[in-house]
This record gives sequence, structure tokens and C-alpha cells, in this order.
Amino acid sequence: MRVLFIGDVVGKPGREGLAATMPALREEHKPDLVIANGENVAGGVGITEETGRELFEMGVDVITLGNHAYRHRDSYGFIASEQRLIRPANYPASNPGQGHTIVDAAGMRVAVVNLSGALYLRVERSPFPVADEIIGELSGRADAIFVDFHAELTSEKVAMGWHLDGRAAAVIGTHTHVPTADDRVLPGGTAYLTDAGMTGSRAGVIGVRKEQALEGFLTQMPVRFDSAEGDIWVMGALVEVGDDGLARSIDRVMVPAAE
Ligand SMILES: [Fe+2]
Ligand SMILES: [Fe+2]
Repeated sequence: MRVLFIGDVVGKPGREGLAATMPALREEHKPDLVIANGENVAGGVGITEETGRELFEMGVDVITLGNHAYRHRDSYGFIASEQRLIRPANYPASNPGQGHTIVDAAGMRVAVVNLSGALYLRVERSPFPVADEIIGELSGRADAIFVDFHAELTSEKVAMGWHLDGRAAAVIGTHTHVPTADDRVLPGGTAYLTDAGMTGSRAGVIGVRKEQALEGFLTQMPVRFDSAEGDIWVMGALVEVGDDGLARSIDRVMVPAAE
């Protein structure tokens, strides 16, 4: 089974770039399952029903979220009811949405789990015991487990990779929007990557127009952020999973978006 994971899709430039590039990605990587982080898909922060559906229509099978999940109040019903959309499992249980979902891909039951780091991000519970609980619940219900770990710190992400080594097919990090070069299959069989990077404009500061981001740093005053445009790239990773539910390979994906 082949899983294409796409890092945080940022705003309209990210959505349009991914849609335009998806045919070539399918041709090259032949994914059985496409997972994308959609926490920045609506105007650079959060998700709306309209932008979520846009991702599904372009061929994304499962959308994961992160700290911007609840930016758009009118999307709470969509987050709560859409089974192909998940938000970090270690948020309060009463928050709209679910922390994992199970989908069929290439004859396998694939559980996709979303977790948030606890360092520099707001969570209710540590992601480590929550990961253990979910993996326990999934026993006998899923053939492979794919984790999007939305976290700030590389150390917390590397630790999660080791924590789940041999128990998940993949642990892939999101949130920093900057891709890392440490893709590998850990000894127990878990594909690991600290950050998948983002799908959006490289002309800005992690997806925000650079003039606005710089103004924020220089003045230390609140600044309106818009999505940067131009020089759009698609970033993520391709994971090959064996029948035993563990990874055979992981390769980073980083290509300029098709026009
Ligand atoms: Fe993000
Ligand atoms: Fe984030």
C-alpha cells in the first residue's frame, strides 16, 4: 500500500497548487491513499467546509488538522460530522471532531491518527499516553496506523517516532511548514519524518506574505496576515507499507506546483 502524505496546505495558493499537481503526483507515486494536513487551507488559517470539500474533490482521502482547527466557527458542524476529517486526539473530548478515522486502501484498513505536540501548543493531554490508548483501541480494527504528529519541537517529534516504532506504519510531523531531511524507516518498521513541510508559497514566511511577517517581527505589533503568493511548492512524503502494517520505505516529496 502506498500513502502520499501532504504537508500543511496553505491558503488558496496551496489549494490551487495541489490541485494542479495532483495528476502528476498520482502518475509518479501511484498512491492508494492520500492524506493532507488542512489546518491552514482556508485563507492561511483554519478550515471551512468549502475548502475542506475542495481538498476531497482534488483527491485527498483524509484531512488532518492542528492548532488552527477551530479558527472558523461556522465549520464546527463540518469538523464534527465529516468522517474523513480528523483533529488532534489529545484536545478536549468535547471539542468538535474526532482524533482518528479508519479508511480502506488497497484492501487494508488504515487508521489515520492526528496528535498535537504538548510543547508550545495547547492540548488537554500529553500526546504520548493518548497515542498508546488509541493504538490499544485500534487493535484488531486496523491493519496499519498512520500518525500525523502536529508539533513544534523536533525533540518531541523524534521522541514520538521512537515511542511508536514498530506499532505505527508512519509518524510524520507537521506544523512547522519547513521540511526536514531525516526521512527514514526506524528499526521497528515505522516510517519517520520530523516535518513534511508545507504546500504553498515559498515566497513568504512559512506561507505568510513576507512583508507582513517582517512587519510583525520589526514592530512587535499585531499585523494582518495574508497568504503569500508565487513560487508554489508541494511538499510531503510517500510511504510504502507492507502487508504487516509496517513501512518498507519513505521518500520525501518536494516539487514545484504545476501551473
Ligand atoms: Fe500549519
Ligand atoms: Fe499548526
